[in-house]
Amino acid sequence: MKIIIKNGHIIDPSQGIDGVGDILIEDGKIKEISTQHSALSTSSSAHRTIDAIGLYVLPGLIDMHTHLRDPGFEYKETIKTGTKAAVKGGFTTVCCMPNTYPVNDNASVTEFIIRKAAQEGHCTVLPIGAITKGQKGEELAEIGTMRNEGCIAFSDDGRPVMNSLMMRRALEYSKAFNVPIISHCEDLTLSEDGVMNEGLLSVTLGLKGIPSEAEEIMVYRDLSLSKLTGGRLHIAHVSTEGSVKLIRDAKKRGVNVTAETCPHYFSITEDAVTGYDTNAKVNPPLRTERDIKAIKEGLQDGTIDVIATDHAPHHMDEKLQEFDKSPSGISGLETALGLSLRLVEGGILTMGQLIEKMALNPARILGIKRGTLQTDTNADVVLLDMNREFTVEVDRFLSKGKNTPFRGWILKGMPVITISKGRIYEWQ
Ligand code: DOR
Repeated sequence: MKIIIKNGHIIDPSQGIDGVGDILIEDGKIKEISTQHSALSTSSSAHRTIDAIGLYVLPGLIDMHTHLRDPGFEYKETIKTGTKAAVKGGFTTVCCMPNTYPVNDNASVTEFIIRKAAQEGHCTVLPIGAITKGQKGEELAEIGTMRNEGCIAFSDDGRPVMNSLMMRRALEYSKAFNVPIISHCEDLTLSEDGVMNEGLLSVTLGLKGIPSEAEEIMVYRDLSLSKLTGGRLHIAHVSTEGSVKLIRDAKKRGVNVTAETCPHYFSITEDAVTGYDTNAKVNPPLRTERDIKAIKEGLQDGTIDVIATDHAPHHMDEKLQEFDKSPSGISGLETALGLSLRLVEGGILTMGQLIEKMALNPARILGIKRGTLQTDTNADVVLLDMNREFTVEVDRFLSKGKNTPFRGWILKGMPVITISKGRIYEWQ
């Protein structure tokens, strides 16, 4: 099958391409890419020619932090629904967190996920294995066998690894197996029972707060352990100014660390919790304007390498409980790109830098040949129409998770075509 994408504005930071051109796809691979100065060598008889005039042509996005909930919590999401939502959001690769049931802490669960994703997944699914058995923080999981089975990183996400020795060992393993350890930084002794950011608003609302320090103390610990071991540390969902400063400083000192934030941490503050909207309950919690400013600066100066979704779908009945009882999480795959494009509109990032954070950098951190339009790589491609606005309507979400605080927002920039796993998806 031959596909030609013609006259689109191609952005591929991996090759320094930012200009109008054509792409030839053959048998699911990028066969050739040309800019306005050259023409495709094959004038060829394509089975499909896509006119991309006025559209951006981008490498498929990579989400290195997705909760697919499968196995065990299929009522929240399945591999099938989660990957369909991903593809609609412009993602062609998602890395799924291990807090499923059973936990992905051994090679059989990893194998189950990979097999199911091969059969039902609309995009590529790369599993992240648990650091500790059952994510209980007591005993290291079978990191080596899971790595051999296909896990591309390890994390106890959803929970921190409270035991520092356990984290030290995990970071030592990360060198042996050449994988990042993704840390959910939260000191449970400080955050326990907290449900939102600690401050004046939590007091006003009568809700128990989580101080920024609950995150920052663990960021500091893990940076220290990475320095001690030389292990590959990736800090998940950075939400505070203090964390940004700690990571910036550590990078200057040569610590082996990368970091991600999520669209909700630079788009809305704790004010979204007012009215006890459980859709704004997320862990770590939404913070303040000051934190947003610091996160944007961190994105701009490269302290924060990646924008990930932390897509955390929950059932509506769970989210309808009172604030204290409701689970944390935001369904993020279908709004992440639209929210992140606001950074381009606001002059925080260039389009090329955004694609670095949402495709190239995740690929580099994970050591995979993706997030690029280089010849002979998989034809994972997104065509983005910046003139298309859309209103966030949960009834139109393909994800089972309707839990978003962005309901009713008007976002600019919509994928109109996603090419994933050799299929062409067209979005209205
Ligand atoms: O809000 C969150 N939801 N944060 C996490 O770390 C876990 C996630 C989930 O699994 O629901």
